[in-house]
Amino acid sequence: MTRDLLIVSTRALTARDLGAAVTAVGQGQPWTVTDDAGQFTVTYRERPLLRLQPSTRVEGGARPRWHTRLRLVDEDPPLGIEVARAAAWEADGDLVESLTGAMSSPRTVVSGELDALLDFIADRQADPATGTCYLGTDRESIRLELEELGDDAWPASALVVTEGGRIVGATVTEVDPELGRSWISGPWAAEGYWDAVARPLVEAAVAQCPPEINAHEFSGDVLNQPMAALAAELGWTASVPNHVFVAKADAASDWPADDPRVRAPRPDDFAAIDPLHAAEFPDTYLSTRQMIDEGIAGDRITVVSEADGVVLGYAAGRVQPDGAGYLDFIAIIPEARGTGAGLGLLVTVSRRIMAAAPGGDVNLTVQDHRSPAIGLYRRLGFALETTIVGYSSRLAP
Ligand SMILES: CC(C)(COP(=O)(O)OP(=O)(O)OC[C@H]1O[C@@H](n2cnc3c(N)ncnc32)[C@H](O)[C@@H]1OP(=O)(O)O)[C@@H](O)C(=O)NCCC(=O)NCCS
Repeated sequence: MTRDLLIVSTRALTARDLGAAVTAVGQGQPWTVTDDAGQFTVTYRERPLLRLQPSTRVEGGARPRWHTRLRLVDEDPPLGIEVARAAAWEADGDLVESLTGAMSSPRTVVSGELDALLDFIADRQADPATGTCYLGTDRESIRLELEELGDDAWPASALVVTEGGRIVGATVTEVDPELGRSWISGPWAAEGYWDAVARPLVEAAVAQCPPEINAHEFSGDVLNQPMAALAAELGWTASVPNHVFVAKADAASDWPADDPRVRAPRPDDFAAIDPLHAAEFPDTYLSTRQMIDEGIAGDRITVVSEADGVVLGYAAGRVQPDGAGYLDFIAIIPEARGTGAGLGLLVTVSRRIMAAAPGGDVNLTVQDHRSPAIGLYRRLGFALETTIVGYSSRLAP
């Protein structure tokens, strides 16, 4: 029986690595390692166990990456795999199934593939028709955004589909056990691979979530039609379209002055803000408590508008890992709408976000049906960037 494997490593594999690997696996055993013009054969008790092709350098990515194809040729695959794994370790790499160029099933990415995966994601993110809206478009910003998700998400949750060692599909999944939700970045597929990889990747991403996660979501530009079709096929529900608006610093020069009713948040704002937050943003990713506490701690820009002892509304924003400013929430209590409180709150929080953000801008998303908010953004010079749709699995009963 034969089986084809691949070592992905940061340097080329040498005969010395193989020598060290067989020593590590079975000291004093009758092993030989032969070198035939760079093609190695590992023999155990005079039976060939592994044949390795010369390592080849894979282009692209910031760090060097090497592929070594190997074939298990013995009736004792576990022993061969053990040696192959030890050899991968010696060359600072990982062992993955290669299936002689055939497409793999979705599997966890190995550390030697991370640069290639970032290249792949950045390439897919460059076009709104193939990207997710959870991440930006610049490779370095994407890396920072993924790292910001935490170790459980990046790279631990990253799934890839490979073909002959090349990444042809991927997802990265963030989970929030408290909310019981997951956000799947991707699925990303190489040109021509969507039909083969997108659904298996999403199903694998869902399957790897802890049991308390019962609602899943992915999201993309309205131009990402394959994503919309996949969601329909899975029976997932599409959100209303969300418009992404951005205001650059120059827009702010025409704005009215900051609103003196806007102040920092306090722990006791919870009672007034929580019903408004729940009514306007049900199922959101940030609880009222988190929003207030993080605002007080300075980890988030949270502000409250108050007049005559009555909380009129609140807003919350932050600086994204890529340096862009982002307004997450703004709402005014229904009784106070239409009197200028929203405008005052928006210009005040936006200036703070712009001042904190290296990018000096404010980005936000607003649902299609929120025409008062859209009117307000347009009036203040916010410009429409893209329109995105989220797709979510049904909540478990
Ligand atoms: C959006 C919201 C914060 C605006 O607050 P507000 O206090 O009502 O707004 P203002 O009174 O300051 O109005 C300022 C501008 O907003 C726009 N606006 C406000 N109400 C509007 C309405 N009913 N229809 C159209 N435009 C409206 C107008 O441009 C208005 O300027 P104008 O007074 O010269 O016409 C408020 O409507 C709200 O809380 N909505 C629910 C939550 C929400 O949609 N948040 C946005 C999520 S991204």
